[in-house]
Amino acid sequence: MDEVSISGLTKNFGDLVAVDHMELSIPAGTIFGLLGPNGAGKSTTTRLLSTLLHPTDGTAVVSGFDIIENPVQVREITGVLPEESNHTIYPSLTAYENLEYFARLYEVPKDEIHERIEELLTFMELWERKDDRAGELSTGNRQRLALCRAILHRPKVLLLDEPTSALDPIAAKRVRELILSLSQRYKQTFFINSHNLPEVQRICDRIAIIDKGKVVLHGSTRELRSKLLAKQEFRIRVVGDIGKASSVAKSMNFVEEVEEEVDSISVVIENPLENNSTLMQALLSNGIKIVEFAEEETTLEDLYLEVVKGGTA
Ligand SMILES: Nc1ncnc2c1ncn2[C@@H]1O[C@H](COP(=O)(O)OP(=O)(O)OP(=O)(O)O)[C@@H](O)[C@H]1O
Ligand SMILES: [Mg+2]
Repeated sequence: MDEVSISGLTKNFGDLVAVDHMELSIPAGTIFGLLGPNGAGKSTTTRLLSTLLHPTDGTAVVSGFDIIENPVQVREITGVLPEESNHTIYPSLTAYENLEYFARLYEVPKDEIHERIEELLTFMELWERKDDRAGELSTGNRQRLALCRAILHRPKVLLLDEPTSALDPIAAKRVRELILSLSQRYKQTFFINSHNLPEVQRICDRIAIIDKGKVVLHGSTRELRSKLLAKQEFRIRVVGDIGKASSVAKSMNFVEEVEEEVDSISVVIENPLENNSTLMQALLSNGIKIVEFAEEETTLEDLYLEVVKGGTA
């Protein structure tokens, strides 16, 4: 069943079409990534889904509730981490007091409030910080607190707008890991805006790329990679003669580029799904042991640049 179903969703600001007849369906339990460059319409989409904005045309159904006809119910079953997540917590209240305040606002049953806050703060590794004022927490910890606030009322759908964009790489990684564990534990549907491709590639099951308010690509992460990346770069770490490994690779007609490194070769392979095993076999039969055959990480980024900048859109 689709947890989020967007049909013909459109938002104009005067002459500007920020979201342009968007069609998307997101199955329950998915971690969905909405990717697009600055100004593509990601935040506007999130604001429409969270009923902060009213669409110019079209609509969306979130967990069975229409954003136009049932906005109150939509707000109850969604949790939102807005782009300016700092604005959703009170700097002069402690971490605990912030959550207590929002628990009351969301009418969490009184006898469950303490238990839920303790569970969440512990889960987000913030329990030790519970008595610190939110304004004095590090940016990473404040973002985790804002995430706690967004999930306190156990929403079925989480709308996270650039959850890691303000964080350093280590804090961002931790937040990504927490999103993955949250999804495993509570099985919510995540709708995550990002322009960080490697990030989306790591945590999202499904991806849509938008540009100028229009969906230009949509599918599972795996599908998009295999369908659209006609060639990919791989790093093959080997034990044995690197020069020989390199010449075996060069002799294959589907190998476009070969670069030799200290313990590995980098190769660009056409139709890797079909051809990788042939290359592996050729290397093995030439006495070269393969320690690692790894895809280079920039693949989705290449795809994104191709789609958004290269005019395929
Ligand atoms: N309230 C508003 N009034 C007028 N124009 C707006 C408003 N909100 C957004 N826009 C415009 O709509 C377009 C889409 O903006 P949006 O914030 O949704 O993009 P985004 O994909 O979230 O970008 P970013 O990656 O920078 O966060 C932009 O051209 C923006 O200037
Ligand atoms: Mg935005």
